[in-house]
Amino acid sequence: MNKKISLDGVPVLNGAGVIDSKVFESTRDIRKNSEEITKNRTRKTRALNVVVIGTGYVGLVTGAILADQGQTVTCVDTDAEKLALINRGESPIYEPGLAEVIQNGLKNNRLLTSTSIADAIENADIVFIAVGTPPSPDGTPDLTAVIKVVQSIGESIKQHVTIVTKSTVPVGTGNLIEEILDKMGVDPNLYDVVSCPEFLREGSAVHDTLHPDRIIIGVNDEGAEIKLLTLYSRYRCPVLVTNRTSAELVKYASNAFLAVKISFINGISRICEECGANVDDIAAGMGMDSRISPKFLQAGLGWGGSCFPKDVQGLSKVGGTMGFDFEMLRAAEKINTDQVLHFVARIKRELGSFTGKRVGLLGLAFKPNTDDIRDAKSLEIIEILKQEGAEIVAHDPVAMDHVKALHPDITYANSAEEALHDVDVAILVTEWAEYKQLNMDRIANLMRGKLLFDGRRCLRREDVESAGLRYFTIGS
Ligand code: UGA
Repeated sequence: MNKKISLDGVPVLNGAGVIDSKVFESTRDIRKNSEEITKNRTRKTRALNVVVIGTGYVGLVTGAILADQGQTVTCVDTDAEKLALINRGESPIYEPGLAEVIQNGLKNNRLLTSTSIADAIENADIVFIAVGTPPSPDGTPDLTAVIKVVQSIGESIKQHVTIVTKSTVPVGTGNLIEEILDKMGVDPNLYDVVSCPEFLREGSAVHDTLHPDRIIIGVNDEGAEIKLLTLYSRYRCPVLVTNRTSAELVKYASNAFLAVKISFINGISRICEECGANVDDIAAGMGMDSRISPKFLQAGLGWGGSCFPKDVQGLSKVGGTMGFDFEMLRAAEKINTDQVLHFVARIKRELGSFTGKRVGLLGLAFKPNTDDIRDAKSLEIIEILKQEGAEIVAHDPVAMDHVKALHPDITYANSAEEALHDVDVAILVTEWAEYKQLNMDRIANLMRGKLLFDGRRCLRREDVESAGLRYFTIGS
């Protein structure tokens, strides 16, 4: 049964269909009427001591924004060079707007750094674990870094602290953390373990963290619940309080659902190519139904990055361990893999052969506004083109150095125009804004061939064709 409670001055509006959960809606009028509003204000005035362990996308953005919001935050990382960059007000990752938020935190003395978990947690109220959970060879997330952090916390814990998992961790990790601490003989009164998954997207991480659609708090303990609600009390989005395992599963379910949604529209794109329909119009028509929504219906080369591939596999494994074969996820993965193969096969068909052909690749990052190339479609395409004997000239506004480390044998251009100079075919892989502004007449003059393949449907067919090039894209 859903409990009617009014913590943090916000009464429960509904929690229908969610067992043991409470949904808080932030509505000014409801807040005004709340009998607990005074209590809420008192809670809000106290800055919490927050420690964030791991300064990757999730950790650094979370820490810097909490500091900007008035909490005292210590970001912990074993990489002292990274921390030195942060202390200079620079962002060690490419993320629009993050350096400014870091600088604010430093200016107000709210953002601190440390290489020592023991020192950082001495006076901490809340410790976020935000270290990496990369996929192991069998597809399950590798928890080595998380376990090491928990052991360090266990060795140095002296006063009560709320340990919160922010990294995407497998369902049951909260229980595992408790088991580790228990085996170490740590007094259970010294900690509680919470799951508070992060939903930010790379490239818009600052915006997403400041304006989340929702906050999910997975707790098995009311004290921890109050602490987390206090920490997030300035947010005006719905807050779902549920048990820890459910929160862990919400994260996987959300990412996997979005990946399936993209694969669905990519499946439709294949049908469109055969029957002459236009996939953008299908997506627009479907998206007008508010139950479907137009978001994440952009057909293209498919999903990559550090999250969707890992989390789709992770959820598949979870299903497997529970005796459920989540076939739909494997089908989504297959569509995603086939999307690139099908695209490259179409290019080969038009070219005749890749052998000895000069190919210009625009975009290497797994999506725009990031330099992240993890599971980027560009890497799959480069592998195939190399095997087929093509000469590759690549460009990306920020991700070229990462690809150079993997493929030092291809040519890197300083601009999109340079990448397309004298090429037989142009392939757009990542929809960077600057590629949408390219002057197609100039491009047509630079290229020796006439083929332009747009893997993200981001160019205008009329512009390309009126320049005398042949335009091919996914889904029409
Ligand atoms: C994703 C989720 O969107 C975040 O909510 C989540 O917090 C994050 O994973 C995570 O687990 O850390 P992210 O991987 O940064 O965020 O990137 P997205 O913007 O979701 O894009 C993922 C992939 O899907 C990209 O390759 C993108 O090109 C592709 N995509 C996205 C499409 O092909 N079509 C779309 O309509 C949307």
